[in-house]
Amino acid sequence: MAAEPRKRILSGMRPTGKLHLGNYYGALDNWLRLQEEYQCFYFVADWHALTTEYETPQDIGGYIKEMVLDWLSVGLDPDKSTIFVQSAIPEHAELYLIFGMFTPVPWLERNPTYKDQLQELPHKDLATYGFLGYPVLQAADILMYKADGVPVGVDQVPHVEMTREIARRFNHLYRPIFPEPEVLLTEIPKLTGIDGRKMSKSYNNCIYLSDPPEVMQQKVRQMVTDTQRPFKKDPGEPDRCLAFPFHRLNLPEERLQEITTACRAASLGCVECKKMLALALTANLAPIQERRRFYEKHPEAVLEVLELGNRRARRQAQHTMSEVRDAVLFNLDFQLWS
Ligand code: TRP
Repeated sequence: MAAEPRKRILSGMRPTGKLHLGNYYGALDNWLRLQEEYQCFYFVADWHALTTEYETPQDIGGYIKEMVLDWLSVGLDPDKSTIFVQSAIPEHAELYLIFGMFTPVPWLERNPTYKDQLQELPHKDLATYGFLGYPVLQAADILMYKADGVPVGVDQVPHVEMTREIARRFNHLYRPIFPEPEVLLTEIPKLTGIDGRKMSKSYNNCIYLSDPPEVMQQKVRQMVTDTQRPFKKDPGEPDRCLAFPFHRLNLPEERLQEITTACRAASLGCVECKKMLALALTANLAPIQERRRFYEKHPEAVLEVLELGNRRARRQAQHTMSEVRDAVLFNLDFQLWS
């Protein structure tokens, strides 16, 4: 009996530059696991970046490079996954256009992610057609590859749900071409930035995968611990400490228990505890940084990965688009007119 074809996974990230620990533990380590079992498509959503960064497009190219360097450094493997850049596959724009014909505007206006972002980025003029249509482009990304599963964090769930609705509407209006993708919800660990706010590049409070050991030490030293423990002799509480969740990323349960007990008994001080943390993080990142140095020295290898991925992705995209044109435009064939 023929083996069942492997399920397809697709996910993307907007290029924002170097990746931080939140990106790693909130997405990438999941991508890595998935590539062992499924047929994975991972791509750089550079057109999506343009929806908010249209005033500074000159920065996006450098961000793409840094992000793909990080992807390869953590172990995304072009032999297992198709790694590509959205704007290299113009078919995404065509599918987005077709979907735009029948996507009701109220679906887009109701989208909670849209409303949140408008509030979070008040300094940008986002009263644009492109920004409103963000989820339609995302639906094109997902359905182009007929993904079965889309690993994303909870903020992206409304977009995948809208993708399902767009697929259903297309299938109903024209021909059933598109499967409805499932959300594979990625659990995002509660990591804050070193100042206690959400870890985000715009707050300048991130720990990057590429931070060298001395920078790591300095950043960890700045992390706010239990503010109700002014002196080492006072008992502490890991649940109030912003550094403790980072220990969870590195240490087995029994070590976490030991640290918790020692903190509460005031036998382990914050300075020492954070030194351990910086060492553990540095050790975890060492192999990643070593691979990064290799790719930094060999930009041609990175380019080769993207060229291979773009070719593979494009083949699939062209196939899907010929089905779509058949379904919608009845394969308009100018030969018939001659
Ligand atoms: N909107 C996603 C984000 O901000 C990025 C993205 C674009 C995406 N297209 C996608 C994610 C398709 C999953 C599938 O994180």
